[in-house]
Amino acid sequence: MAASGTFGYGHEYARLIDIERLGAIVSKGTTLRPRLGNPQPRIAETPAGMLNAIGLENIGIEAVIQEKAPIWVRWKVPVVVNIAGETVDEYATIATMLEGVDGVAGIEVNISCPNVAEGGMAFGIRSDTAAQVTAAVKASTSLPVIVKLTPNVTDIVSIAEAVAASGADAVSLINTLVGMTIDITTRRPFLGNISGGLSGPAIRPIALRMVYEVAKAVDIPVIGVGGITSTSDALQFLMAGASAVQVGTAIFVNPQTPLEIIDGLRQFMEREGAKDITELIGAAL
Ligand SMILES: Cc1cc2nc3c(=O)[nH]c(=O)nc-3n(C[C@H](O)[C@H](O)[C@H](O)COP(=O)(O)O)c2cc1C
Repeated sequence: MAASGTFGYGHEYARLIDIERLGAIVSKGTTLRPRLGNPQPRIAETPAGMLNAIGLENIGIEAVIQEKAPIWVRWKVPVVVNIAGETVDEYATIATMLEGVDGVAGIEVNISCPNVAEGGMAFGIRSDTAAQVTAAVKASTSLPVIVKLTPNVTDIVSIAEAVAASGADAVSLINTLVGMTIDITTRRPFLGNISGGLSGPAIRPIALRMVYEVAKAVDIPVIGVGGITSTSDALQFLMAGASAVQVGTAIFVNPQTPLEIIDGLRQFMEREGAKDITELIGAAL
């Protein structure tokens, strides 16, 4: 799968790669109203990764339904809409608006964005609020609901359990880790938002550990994301219990990465004599 915020609405990449070969595309984070996002600069390169503080710049749910869904409906690849709200009601409203929209295959509920002042990660750092958002979205839609968890917590397992108990169909983890960088010339924080979300290979061992712990604790599918750049990385997440993986930052370096991983998984399975990917899922648990 292509991870939210790193693959636009999919069509931007359609000229670069064969998007129909992907397992799924997760759209850019979508809010009730359009958002301009945070002040520039919004991205910074870091050792083995990047910081971003985009601040959920997006065209808003109505424009997604009017302008993007008619494009998605022509594709075979499922498109999951990533949603974010400032209140529980806003999450529910967006989910209601997506009900019955052709071209939308599911909802990924972002309760983990570290770069917005209202809502965002605030819902994902407590079990009770994470559960409330999950229940509200589930009550508003018949689409499959994936809840995306933040790693900026001391106990991600308890939050995953709360979300699963509230009806989530799957969890995806992890979103970015809060970090910052300082411009030593200006002696000021470099990012306009001061802090940003760290992604890329630097966060992979943390994401893998969290996927392993969560997969052991919940009965719903776990989607692994965080620093995946190669087949071997994806295999580690599958063996840690992920039923699927998302590729994010690596797409900026090489847009073919998800397709190369799909080919690599097939080759690995042939080499190992595995007939079905489920033989590998959770092998390390
Ligand atoms: C530029 C950028 C924008 C992102 N926007 C979103 C977003 O809108 N919603 C969301 O749930 N995650 C968003 N993410 C998080 C990614 O989907 C992913 O969880 C995270 O980057 C870790 O995976 P990676 O290391 O493969 O990038 C964004 C990440 C980046 C780098």
